[in-house]
Amino acid sequence: METAIVTGGAGFIGSHLCTRLLDMGYKVIAIDSLITSNGKNIDRLKENDNFQFIHQDVTLPLSDDLTADYVFHLASPASPNHHSEISYHKLAMETMMVNTIGTHNLLDFALHNNAKFLFASTSEVYGDPQQHPQKETYNGNVSTTGPRSVYDESKRFGETLVAYYIREKNLNARIIRIFNTYGPGMNIKDLRMLIVFIIQALKGQSITIFGDGTQTRSLCYVDDTVEGMIKLMFDSNTKGEIVNIGSTEEHTILEYADMIKKLVGANVKIEYSEALPQNDPLQRQPDISKARQLLNWEPKVSLEEGLKKTIEYFKSELMPEIK
Ligand SMILES: NC(=O)c1ccc[n+]([C@@H]2O[C@H](COP(=O)([O-])OP(=O)(O)OC[C@H]3O[C@@H](n4cnc5c(N)ncnc54)[C@H](O)[C@@H]3O)[C@@H](O)[C@H]2O)c1
Repeated sequence: METAIVTGGAGFIGSHLCTRLLDMGYKVIAIDSLITSNGKNIDRLKENDNFQFIHQDVTLPLSDDLTADYVFHLASPASPNHHSEISYHKLAMETMMVNTIGTHNLLDFALHNNAKFLFASTSEVYGDPQQHPQKETYNGNVSTTGPRSVYDESKRFGETLVAYYIREKNLNARIIRIFNTYGPGMNIKDLRMLIVFIIQALKGQSITIFGDGTQTRSLCYVDDTVEGMIKLMFDSNTKGEIVNIGSTEEHTILEYADMIKKLVGANVKIEYSEALPQNDPLQRQPDISKARQLLNWEPKVSLEEGLKKTIEYFKSELMPEIK
């Protein structure tokens, strides 16, 4: 039986990836420091004999006793919201270190084990893009010193490390650039727009929109994102590839608020707050033609289906609080 390591395996996307890999018949080792998750996402998985959890910060070297055939490196704070206690702004040093030192450790581990490697990068490497939609060949427009640089630039340097290991050490590695992903298992503390809207609607509170609600977002359901990761790791001819994975279906913030209100069945108001939050994420739109061609991948889960599952998840999370 082959073994896959998933760093950040207790997090939102990582826990879905672990589940999928177990279903595919792999032995899965999730390594997570639990800095931005409470571990609940993997409680169920611990009953599976092929699943192992290691509570560890991956900026420290992995144990010499560990071996693996595949390494998925997802560990990193990921919330862009300044108000979130688990955002990469609040966890700036940790974010910079896990994407650089952590990536270096894991690349060495993969090389030593002759394992295939996948680095979870982000659409934020395109920064404030001047090209729409963004292709993988676009080099981005990123500030080295701005408030988001702790995340953007550490992911960019993580990519540089991966590219070096491919070029100079012939490591079988690849990079996935993930665009906004949503679904069950997202951390309530993350405070992304969708999470806040769902919780407000479930609690019967007004849904608050910052700005005029015409800003747009494209959201990819987590099963689709994980499918893209699986294909990028296991399909042939993916060594050295960089691939965007995300949804191209764009909706305004107001449309999301309306959909959530309708799906929750809540008779709540939509209120507008004038101030746009500081550093409101800029709109990015993936060009996914490479994923279509190379991986035969495109998002399959409709927004309505994905939102229903996400709402169900938060309903069960909040059960004692809602009538
Ligand atoms: N969610 C998205 O929309 C999105 C978009 C683009 C990229 N990504 C990337 O995907 C990956 C997973 O994101 P997510 O949304 O599941 O976030 P998450 O916060 O739910 O999961 C990240 C996990 O990594 C763990 N972690 C952080 N630093 C660690 C360290 N030093 N050692 C060990 N574990 C550590 C956290 O405890 C957490 O469980 C991240 O690398 C993120 O940058 C996510």
